Amino acid sequence: MMSVALYSFAHGADHAEALSLALGVPLATVDVHRFPDGESRVSVPEAASTALIYCPLDRPNEKLVDLMLAVDALRRGGACRLVLVAPYLCYMRQDTAFNDGEAISQQAVARFLSSLFDRIVTVDAHLHRVDDIAKVFPAIEAQNLGAAKTIAAFAAARGMGRRTLIAGPDAESIQWTGRIAAALGAEAVAGAKCRIDDRKVEITFPGTQVEGRAVLLADDIVSSGGTMAVAVESLSHAGAASIFVVVTHALFDAAAETRIRAAGAREIWSTDAVPHPTNAIPLASLLADALRNEMKQ
Ligand code: R5P
Repeated sequence: MMSVALYSFAHGADHAEALSLALGVPLATVDVHRFPDGESRVSVPEAASTALIYCPLDRPNEKLVDLMLAVDALRRGGACRLVLVAPYLCYMRQDTAFNDGEAISQQAVARFLSSLFDRIVTVDAHLHRVDDIAKVFPAIEAQNLGAAKTIAAFAAARGMGRRTLIAGPDAESIQWTGRIAAALGAEAVAGAKCRIDDRKVEITFPGTQVEGRAVLLADDIVSSGGTMAVAVESLSHAGAASIFVVVTHALFDAAAETRIRAAGAREIWSTDAVPHPTNAIPLASLLADALRNEMKQ
């Protein structure tokens, strides 16, 4: 039996291959057959004693079921340690019941994943009211890796440095922009965001000297693109010389990308936490460093 192997679904297979090379472990594909009625038949090749499953959890609902079935197959094959490598971890934003009768999705999904895995490794999880990944997953090992240094190195390679303004669209974003700014020796600012509905927000940058400056606008997630587009518009009206957008988790579609570019973004870059046409910043090395201790289990 193999001691350690990485398993991947079709989604994100290229990034899983980069991770397997960085780790020096074999990569196997989880086969998912979708029946005409929508149910799945999931099978895995030979199980390893320690099975690392790579699965970016964007558009997660079907993937959660496929993961459950893959874990069943691996445990039945003899795997005794299961590690989920989910560079994007879904449902973290719904960390409270905002209205009567709502599920707290963060808790429900965390309980489900904790029942399957011994350890979870993710990147820039959206932690807000619950500020520590260990509190989200109290029953298993959990690591929330930061992409800030990787993003800052990417920005530095494009000539950004201490004169660049590192902006985030809202107060929560300072946990990401602050670290990017620190790595570049630059100033970080947060916008004042007011959400009107699922797709409409208003953002201002009061008291910030924006005029004539190059701005790197960063956030953890771009989904509908509304937040980024409005932040770009606001910085553009405030006289920014150039605006570059960087995001860890690119969940947005082509229409959102067009809207952000039309608002004035010169470039849009994302990490490869979620497979997306804007991917420019690989995370394989960050993930491999965190997973190397699995070789010694
Ligand atoms: C929320 O606080 C996140 O950090 C993002 O700002 C948000 O998810 C972006 O959503 P959208 O792209 O739909 O405006």
